[in-house]
Amino acid sequence: MARVLVILVHPTLHKSRINAALAREARQVVGVRLHDLYAAWPDHDIEPAPEQSLLAEHDVIVLQHPFYWYSSPSLLKEWFDLVLTFGWAYGPGGTALRGKLMVSALSTGGPAEAYVGGGERYALRELLAPVDQTAWLCGMRYSVPFVTHAAHRLDAAGIAAAAARYRATLEALVDGYAPPTLRAAPTDELGALVAREGRV
Ligand SMILES: Cc1cc2nc3c(=O)[nH]c(=O)nc-3n(C[C@H](O)[C@H](O)[C@H](O)COP(=O)(O)O)c2cc1C
Repeated sequence: MARVLVILVHPTLHKSRINAALAREARQVVGVRLHDLYAAWPDHDIEPAPEQSLLAEHDVIVLQHPFYWYSSPSLLKEWFDLVLTFGWAYGPGGTALRGKLMVSALSTGGPAEAYVGGGERYALRELLAPVDQTAWLCGMRYSVPFVTHAAHRLDAAGIAAAAARYRATLEALVDGYAPPTLRAAPTDELGALVAREGRV
């Protein structure tokens, strides 16, 4: 069994529709620990040591957040800057994350078609390059992402379907499912892959 850590990054979770629903689902999956970054560090004064301990204790690190300005809410950038330190995450002796799997679980306002040449100028895979490269520098594998597109347009049934897909995906990861990396399968989406494998 893989130990799965979901790092939830949403600055206004009380207003969230999709990430709140996905987080509720994640909390129920055996083998998954959910870590709410904005709740843990309300002053944004992230202490690296406890965050590094959490990372060290898990095999799979899921970064769950809404897509904000083609990236993440700002606290996740702060987390990268403060937690993934030289000599721990990369550089000489920096092997703490080596061999682990990193997964982005994103929700977007834009529909799927927009991110493959229809509206947005870049494919989602291209916009995720900084996270992919960060994971690579730390010796981690960066999975194809779990994506909920056009999140604000989902009705209750759509949200429930996304939550079920997320649960199946997290259960697959706990079971040791090794998804393709973003570079190997740039157009694949993790939830769809898991569904195709009959895990939903
Ligand atoms: C500050 C901000 C920036 C956003 N930037 C993007 C963006 O770059 N691309 C996109 O597709 N959606 C963008 N959105 C839409 C959010 O991704 C969408 O509202 C969110 O995924 C819904 O999730 P929630 O219900 O958990 O809040 C943005 C929303 C906000 C508030």
